[in-house]
This record gives sequence, C-alpha cells and structure tokens, in this order.
Amino acid sequence: MSVLSILAPAHEARHEARPEARPEVQPQVRAGAQPQAPAGAQAEVPEAPTGAQAAARSGARSGAQPGARPGVPAGGRALPAVLGADLEVPVRGGRLVPYANFDYAASAPCLAAAQEAVAAALPAYSSVHRGAGYASQLTTARYEQARHTVRAFAGARPGDAVVFTRNTTDATNLLARCLPEGTTVVVFDTEHHASLLPWPRAVRLAPPAFPGEAVRAADDALAGIEGPALLVVTAASNVTGELWPIAALAHIAHRHGARILVDAAQLAPHRGLNLAALDLDYVAFSGHKLYAPFGAGALIGRPDWLAAAEPYLRGGGASRDVAEADAPQWSEDPEQRHEAGTPNVLGAIALAAACEALSATGWTPLVRREERLLARLRAGLASVPGLRELSLWGPDHPRVGIVSFTLAGWTAREVAEALSAEYGIGVRDGRFCAHPFVRHLLGDGDCASGTGGAVRASIGLGTTEEHVDRLTAALRELAGRR
Ligand SMILES: Cc1ncc(COP(=O)(O)O)c(C=O)c1O
Repeated sequence: MSVLSILAPAHEARHEARPEARPEVQPQVRAGAQPQAPAGAQAEVPEAPTGAQAAARSGARSGAQPGARPGVPAGGRALPAVLGADLEVPVRGGRLVPYANFDYAASAPCLAAAQEAVAAALPAYSSVHRGAGYASQLTTARYEQARHTVRAFAGARPGDAVVFTRNTTDATNLLARCLPEGTTVVVFDTEHHASLLPWPRAVRLAPPAFPGEAVRAADDALAGIEGPALLVVTAASNVTGELWPIAALAHIAHRHGARILVDAAQLAPHRGLNLAALDLDYVAFSGHKLYAPFGAGALIGRPDWLAAAEPYLRGGGASRDVAEADAPQWSEDPEQRHEAGTPNVLGAIALAAACEALSATGWTPLVRREERLLARLRAGLASVPGLRELSLWGPDHPRVGIVSFTLAGWTAREVAEALSAEYGIGVRDGRFCAHPFVRHLLGDGDCASGTGGAVRASIGLGTTEEHVDRLTAALRELAGRR
C-alpha cells in the first residue's frame, strides 16, 4: 500500500484490497494532507496533530502539560515530555516524596504526545475500515496513517507488512502461527519468554560467552537444519541491557537461507531501528514500553509467510468473502488477514505519536543523555558494598539503560520493597520473564525460590540525575544495615 493511498480517503485506501467496499460518497479527505473535517464540522472534528507536532508542542510548552516532564535539553532540543513527572508517592511514616521511576523496561510512562494524539482522535472516533460515514473515514485514515508512521519508525522496506498487535508477546505468537510447515526455530536461552516460548519446534542455544560466540553458535545450529529456519534474537536484553550483534546474526541467518526475527521490545525505546539497513526479516515491539501505553504493539516484516498463513484470528476483517462458513476466502493482504475484528485504533495512534516524537527529537541526543545517566547509575551502583551487577558479556559491552543486580544479605524482593517503602523508588525484582537467563547469570541456588532473582533498575525519558543519586544513596544505606 502506498503512502499516498494511506493518506487518501479511507475508502480509497481500503479499495485496493476490497473493491466491493467502495462507498459512493466522496469524503473531503485530501491525499497528502492531514484529514480535515468537512465545512461546518470543524468544531466537532479537530485536526489530529501528528505525533511530531504534539511532541514539539509538549517540549516547547515547558511545564504546560500537567505532570509532564519536558526533560533535560538534549543537544539544544527539549526531550519529549512524559506524564507523571510530578507524581508523589507515600513512604513509610506517611510523608509524600517525588516518585523515582526505575521501571521503564517493564512499562514506560506515557508521552504527552501520545496522550495528545489520542485526545485529538477521540472526538471523531468511529468504526474503522467498513464505515462510510465521515468520522469512519477519518478514523480509518488516522489508523492507516499510524501504520505508515510505525513503518517509517522501524525503517521497514516498502513491501513489508506492519501488523498491529497487542504487544511483543502477541507479535511473536502471531509469527509462530505463520511459520511455513516444518520450520525450525533457533533461539538463545537468554531470551525473554515472549521470544523463547511461542515456537513449536525450537533448537535452544546456551548463553554465549561473548558476542562472537553467539554468531558462531547460530552459524553451527543453522548449518544443520534442513528446510525453513528462523533465528530469534533480542536486540537488547531486558535483564542486562546488553546489545546483541543483530546485524552479524542476520548475515549468518541469511547465509543459511534462514530468516531472523528481532525482539526489539527493549531496543525500540532506546535506539533507532532500521529493519532495511540491518537486513532483518521481522521485528516486534510493544507500545507500552515505547511511551504509548494504550495496548498496541507491532510485528513488522516480510509479507509472504504472513499472507500464506491461516489468519491469526478468524473473523470479520480477515475474510474477503464468505459464501460457506466452513470455507471462507481470507484476505490476501497480510495486515488485514491478521487483524480480524475491530483493531485497537487508539493504541495504534498513540504508538505512532510516540514513534514520531522520538524520531523528531533524534536518537543522537537521546542516546547521549541516556548514556550519561547510565554511566552515573553504574558508577553509583559500583560504589555500593556487596552489590553485584549482572552481565553476560562484561561491564564494557554496550548496553541500553537497564541494569540488574543483587545485594549481599538481601533478597531482591526485600530490596525492591525497601526502596519503594522508604525512598519512593520503583524498581522491578524477580526473574523478568527470562528465567533461564537469570538462572544462568545467578546460578540455580539464587534463583530457584520465589524470592530469588535480581533487582532491575531501568531508565528512560523522565529519569533525572536526582533519581539516580537517590537510588544509589538508598542502596548504600540498605547495604550498611546487613
Ligand atoms: C525483550 C522483551 N521481549 C518481549 C517482552 C514482552 O513484552 P510484552 O509484555 O509487551 O508483550 C518484554 C517485556 O518485558 C521484553 O523485555
């Protein structure tokens, strides 16, 4: 589907795949323009700001959005504002303190741009794809525009499918259902369960001792496979933040005629993504980790396996024609085929707005700022007696803003509870839905029980130096107690 057709009147965009659905009325939505309300309806149907416009407004209006943090200027540009920056939480004794959120890797706070895009779309919200009414046309145009924005954010190739899903887990499960008969999946034990568990036939590889070993292990495993194969790998670990050599792994996969799925759930909020440049076949990520917590995610990649598979859900939207209920004709468009039922339009709009806001700021200042904060955090943690940072490939390996650690004399749960109750600090504790990997990093003894695991501190757009220093000081105090 072309950019122009996405921006064109909604019924025309869908007409490519569904000629029978073409309505007679010509709506006043101009190709190449943001959808406009018809004359006389201007007050009721606001023009939707693109995510970038919303982000620019949020950044410029420092403090105007209640609870939004415009952030530290990065390279002269304001950061996209996140909601909840003025959240205060009770600590022991009933005092209120500003919340220090170190749980971005689980779910990031909402970007003001995402909230504004949703608020702008709501007054004209209506059915998508099948409605002839003007609000339906507008909502459909916004939904398809969101697909286009997410495609651009991921650096997808023109022919790639962009399927909106609920989250990364939904995206990996969708691809698992679309694998050609007999496909063997190769996956490292270091994966999040979302990328470890969906596969019917998987060869599991042990955690590699260094990045080159990951490439060699994948090479060996793929060499022994007959028939279709898929290599599944995370781009950035949700446990250690460490970046994986995805370009080299893609190269190896392709040398063996295999495909690669990259779990970008933790990469997408922290680094630019370019499917085409990295030569990846599929990527998956979640809106709620990307500052758009409205229940949408995406699977993006090659359309052929998706177009040939049974629909992920059987129902309206996926079906092209149903003469006999037991022999429906399914849409050949991979996006329609796997998005049966009414999609999460607002989730897609929010996700697109977040993608635009991050892209408009630019990754260079975002990464620089994160690296500064991460270095401060890791230096602070290194000064805490008895604290051990978890790492697969050593302290110098590049990573995103995620650190997991243990504290001698404390269980992870005790640390997390004390940080919350006494200091107003939110971290995650446990095994982070990556049980085999955390077990490998900790050893079985530390990980087997319900209280086992580690503490994870993850940072993002709302993190400040004060948050980092508060966390470090709190951990030093805790360490001194036992
Ligand atoms: C690397 C990674 N992959 C997949 C997921 C699953 O994401 P979701 O819960 O949004 O499906 C997560 C969530 O923590 C993750 O960190």
